[in-house]
Amino acid sequence: MTTLAFDVYGTLIDTAGVTTVLEKHLGDAAAAAEFSTQWRQKQLEYTFRYGLMGVYRDFRVCTRQALDFCCDALRADMPAAARAELMDCYLALPAFDDVRGGLELLSAARAKARLKLYAFSNGRPDDLEALLARAGIDAHLDGVVSVHETQTFKPAAAVYRHFLARAGAAADDTWLISGNPFDICGARAAGLHALWLRRAPAAVFDPWEFAPDAIAADLIEVARRFSDAKP
Ligand code: LAC
Repeated sequence: MTTLAFDVYGTLIDTAGVTTVLEKHLGDAAAAAEFSTQWRQKQLEYTFRYGLMGVYRDFRVCTRQALDFCCDALRADMPAAARAELMDCYLALPAFDDVRGGLELLSAARAKARLKLYAFSNGRPDDLEALLARAGIDAHLDGVVSVHETQTFKPAAAVYRHFLARAGAAADDTWLISGNPFDICGARAAGLHALWLRRAPAAVFDPWEFAPDAIAADLIEVARRFSDAKP
């Protein structure tokens, strides 16, 4: 049995999906794209910081605090209603274009290829359920595992161990599929296999010893790789 753990934000779900709403409020496409990038980076930085501090504030809190930071840092005059709208938008972010097709292929191959498919994310369990259902991909998954029960975030070793325990999987038979290099490093350091989904062709992987075992451009390529029948 091979277990695939799909990261959510940045892998299945496109965090840049906030850009349209941002543009409405900022009035400029370039400013919206810059805001979206910085918001995401600050959100992740907050998860890393809370993790190191040993203090847990859930992913929704990190997202909201990062939004408020970016409004100040980028001098965006964003009223409370606009911030609330952006937070709601986070619960309805779209899947990347290849995701539904890739998961359909994997789901169809599940029995023959002896695959189990999970979502595994920093997100709150309720936010993940809502997001994956809205994107229409929840039916293809055997389960959704959140870091929430561990009260810390990726790439802490504890969250990858938590995933293995929840999925009843062995590290050596488990692949993390993620578009986030820090997530790949965390999984490799915890003994899992990892495939880096290089969503941006120009993206560079960190020069660490925890390199991905494989790289793919999209989920269709991932599906091709894992759909072969296992002995
Ligand atoms: C997640 C982060 C990495 O979905 O965005 O876990």
